[in-house]
Amino acid sequence: MRILVTGGAGFVGSQYVRTLLDGAYQGYENAEITVLDLLTYAGRRTNLPVADRRLTFVQGDIGDRGLLLDLLPGHDAVVHFAAESHVDRSLEDASPFTTTNVLGTQTLLECCRRLGIGRIVQVSTDEVYGTIAEGSWSEEHPLLPNSPYAASKAAADLLARAYHRSYGLPVVVTRCTNNYGPYQHVEKVIPRFVTNLLTDQPVPLYGDGLNVREWLHVADHCRGVQLALEKGREGEIYHFGGGVELTNRELTALLVELCGASWDAVRLVTDRKGHDRRYCLDDGKARRELGYAPQVSFESGLAATVSWYQDNRAWWAERMRPGRENVGSTVAVPR
Ligand code: NAD
Ligand code: DAU
Repeated sequence: MRILVTGGAGFVGSQYVRTLLDGAYQGYENAEITVLDLLTYAGRRTNLPVADRRLTFVQGDIGDRGLLLDLLPGHDAVVHFAAESHVDRSLEDASPFTTTNVLGTQTLLECCRRLGIGRIVQVSTDEVYGTIAEGSWSEEHPLLPNSPYAASKAAADLLARAYHRSYGLPVVVTRCTNNYGPYQHVEKVIPRFVTNLLTDQPVPLYGDGLNVREWLHVADHCRGVQLALEKGREGEIYHFGGGVELTNRELTALLVELCGASWDAVRLVTDRKGHDRRYCLDDGKARRELGYAPQVSFESGLAATVSWYQDNRAWWAERMRPGRENVGSTVAVPR
C-alpha cells in the first residue's frame, strides 16, 4: 500500500503522517507514504521525520499537473490535506485560496481520475456551512460559506462530488471542527494566544469574544480521516466533531490559566470581517458507519498542547509576526 499525502508538512497532515509512520493505524504498519507539499509559509519539512525508509518527501504544488502525472502512478490512495487554511489571510487576499484550494484540488482530482487512483479522501471543514445559532449541521445541510477560505473549501468539496457523480471517482469527503494540538501555526487562535502569553504580549480577542468554536484534538481528526480512508463509502461526506464547545472568552480564560498568566493581557480588538458566530457538526453518521469516536479529553489535550508550545519555543519563535494581531482598536476585557 502506497499513499500520497498532500499538505503532509502542515499541522494536520504532519500529525497524520507521523501517526501512520509510528504504526498506530492498524493494518497500515507497512504502508509507504509520499508527502507532496509546496512548503508554503505554513509547511515545514522538519514537522516530519528526517529519515524514514517508508517516507518520500516531494516539494511541489498540487496544481502542477505534470508533476502529479509523474508522481501518482504506483499510489493506491490519496489523502488530500493541502490547502491555504487561515480565514484571516483569505480576507486579506483570496487569490492563493482560489488557486490552491479550488484549482489545485480540481487538478488533483483530474489526475486521480486519469490514472485510476483507487481511493481519495478530500479533507474539508465545517466552515463550508457558514454559521449556526443553535443545533448542529448534518451532511445534507446546504453550503453557505462566509469567508473566501470557506468558499474555496466548499468549491473543492463540490468538485469532489462532481467527479464522483460524473466519473465515478472513488472520493470521500470529510468535514471537521476546529483542531488543536502541537505543530499548529502561530497564526491560529490557540498557538497565537499561548505564544503571546508566554512572551508577555497582549492577547487579541476579536469582536465581543463570544463566538463559539468546537475543539477537537488533531489526533482525533486524523483518526477520523484514516477511518474514512478505510471504510468511508465513495461519494459520501462524513463529519468529525464531538469536541468541546467554548466561547473564545472561555477558551482564552483556560489558556491564561494554563500559561500562568494574567487576564490583564486580554484585549478586545476589531472583529474579523463576516466572523462566523458558531459552528457545530452532527457526527452521528461517522460514529455509526465508521466507528468514529474522539479519544483525547479536552482537558488533558489542551494542557499537553500548552506544554508543547512551552517546550518548543524554537519551533514557533521565528514564526511570530509582531504587531499584526493588534490592528484596530484594543480594549481591555473585563473578566
Ligand atoms: P496548514 O496551513 O497547517 O497546512 C497546509 C499545508 O499545505 C502546508 O504544509 C502547506 O505547505 C501545504 N500547501 C499549501 N498549498 C499547497 C499547494 N499548492 N501544494 C502543495 N502543498 C500545499 O493547514 P492545516 O490546519 O493542517 O489544515 C489541513 C487541512 O485540513 C486543510 O485542508 C484544512 O481545510 C483542513 N481542516 C483543518 C482544520 C483545522 O482546525 N486545522 C479543521 C478542519 C479541516
Ligand atoms: O472550523 C474548522 C476551521 O478551524 C478550519 O477549517 C480552519 O482551517 C482553521 O483555521 C480554523 O478556523 P477558525 O477561523 O475557526 O480558526 P482561528 O484559530 O483562526 O480562530 C478561532 C476563533 O478565534 C475565531 O472565532 C476567531 C477567533 N480569533 C482568532 C484569532 C487568530 C481571535 O479572537 N483572535 C485571534 O487572534
